[in-house]
Amino acid sequence: MKMLDDIAFENANLIEKLSGIGYWKFDVKNRKFYYSQQMCQILGVKKTASNLKKYLPLKDYKKLIANFGRLLRYGEKNTQDVKFIRSDKSVIYCRVNACLIKEKNIICGTLQDITEFVNIKAQLIKARNEAENLSREKSFFLAQASHDLRQPLYALKLYLDLLQPKNFTKQQWKLWENINKSSDSLKYLLENVLDLSKLDYGGTKVFKTNFNIGMLISDLGREFKHTAECQDLTLEYVICNCLVCSDAFLVERILRNLLSNAFKFADKKVSMFCHEHKQKLIVEVKDDGIGIAPQDKKYIFDAFYQGQNVRDNNIEGMGLGLTIVKRIATVLHIKISVTSKPNKGTSFKLFLPKAAVKH
Ligand SMILES: Nc1ncnc2c1ncn2[C@@H]1O[C@H](COP(=O)(O)OP(=O)(O)O)[C@@H](O)[C@H]1O
Ligand SMILES: [Mg+2]
Repeated sequence: MKMLDDIAFENANLIEKLSGIGYWKFDVKNRKFYYSQQMCQILGVKKTASNLKKYLPLKDYKKLIANFGRLLRYGEKNTQDVKFIRSDKSVIYCRVNACLIKEKNIICGTLQDITEFVNIKAQLIKARNEAENLSREKSFFLAQASHDLRQPLYALKLYLDLLQPKNFTKQQWKLWENINKSSDSLKYLLENVLDLSKLDYGGTKVFKTNFNIGMLISDLGREFKHTAECQDLTLEYVICNCLVCSDAFLVERILRNLLSNAFKFADKKVSMFCHEHKQKLIVEVKDDGIGIAPQDKKYIFDAFYQGQNVRDNNIEGMGLGLTIVKRIATVLHIKISVTSKPNKGTSFKLFLPKAAVKH
């Protein structure tokens, strides 16, 4: 009759074969390795190879030994992916799991051939890098093209200005106004595409410094006061005297975009505040306008997306402003949050890192 241990051993062999996972143990006292049949098969050896060094690149071997040391000291189980050079010199990648059986002074574990997985991962990384390079090249091309297109466009604007509509008939005047409007839209679109492609191919340089956010807010506040007066709106801004660490020019671009949106949608009032919260300085740009429809909220940062409010009310725009805001915020590692209630208004918050205090 078979002993229980024999059955367990036979079953273990079967399980190993079916799963393709080998088993090994290391007798710490006698410094001896034991490999299971499956383990021998994976490594291409006939029996336990006591000198593992022969089968591993030095770097992986050292890491494996260091892991064993940690296991003996702290008893944590660990996992490591290593490169093996089999006896027929073919290279395979294996995942080694190890744990310590303290009372027996044994380290034991499993070994799984993950070569296929490693190769697929390498192919995916290569494909992703190629796609990223292609996308960067495309963005670079777009940036170049839109930059070159700006020159004739600026010339067109100049000629349009020179062509004063003094002696125009009503019909000619209308035509001149339409051409002027179209060239303004084209200029706006080109500038935004240029900004976006620059951000995409990494052409936007970031210069982080410590700067006073209060000064930036009061400068913008003074400038936008005029816009407020023209639109019969109130602009309220509250400044704080706080240093933040970021790129002042890019933060200003974000705030300008948020302010121009707020002015586009406000009913009576636009406000800009800042306040400190833990390690962050929060700048809030708020309006009391129609708000963003709940179904639009998750798309407003997408390129060329225009919300229901814009479509319903025929408000001008291209849907690129917030895309630029989002890309700049990503480059600067700044979080942006949006809250909006239909017909109550919208608030955008910018979480800027406060400058480190020097002691
Ligand atoms: N303050 C706001 N109030 C209401 N809707 C807003 C506000 N800001 C942005 N939106 C919505 O987000 C959309 C995208 O904004 P944005 O990317 O800035 O477009 P654009 O470049 O045309 O100004 C807008 O079409 C609008 O629906
Ligand atoms: Mg906008």
